[in-house]
Amino acid sequence: MAEKIYFYPVWVRIWHWINALMFLFLIGTGLSMQYSSVDYPLVRFDLAVTIHNFAGIAVTVCYFIFVIGNLFTANGKFYRLKIGEIADQLKKQFYYYTFGIFKHEPAPFPLSENRKFNPLQKVSYIFAMYAFVPLMIISGFGLLFPEVIVSKVFGIGGIHLTDLIHIISGFILSVFMIIHIYFCTIGKTALSNFKSMFTGWH
Ligand code: HEM
Repeated sequence: MAEKIYFYPVWVRIWHWINALMFLFLIGTGLSMQYSSVDYPLVRFDLAVTIHNFAGIAVTVCYFIFVIGNLFTANGKFYRLKIGEIADQLKKQFYYYTFGIFKHEPAPFPLSENRKFNPLQKVSYIFAMYAFVPLMIISGFGLLFPEVIVSKVFGIGGIHLTDLIHIISGFILSVFMIIHIYFCTIGKTALSNFKSMFTGWH
């Protein structure tokens, strides 16, 4: 029988599932505010704003849990990159996903106690969690308290620029989430990674 590894401590699971649920609320209400008409909204506008603000604050609290958790527990080690090795590792993993997996070749970076993520996962999680989520949170708070935003940056309105950053980071994270869920289905079975994120055991 394959070895069982305890990959997802309770705090990671709580953080992850609250974060994921709040993201779904943010995406639904964000799309409604951006694209649906005032007369026929997907979600009533004032309600969409309230839910979006609440979910945004919840994601921010979750984010602090994520950063502090990774700073002070062993989980942080899975997010460390060796810059010199990563390009080659990404190439190998990319080859595996595009060809190797269909030829039943062994995974180039099998998971173990010391390796929870393959290189593509690791890089995408680092970009999502340490670049785009903070950008989305900071720009979101800027829009919540527009009085703190500088009025012009190189001739462009500060609110306009903040809004642009918020929408672009939100869009990138939405695409990340779709790809993330798809890749999570490539486990031992289509559901095994999802089960792991509930039980903690891989
Ligand atoms: C409904 C939405 C989502 C589902 C079903 C989902 C599913 C999963 C699953 C099954 C795992 C475990 C497999 C793995 O370690 O790769 C995982 C891990 C992870 N997910 Fe998600 N996810 C969702 C949304 C998100 C969102 C919105 C983010 C961030 C913006 C995110 C970030 C992460 C991270 C960073 C990990 C690794 C956590 C760790 O072990 O340190 N996920 N997700």
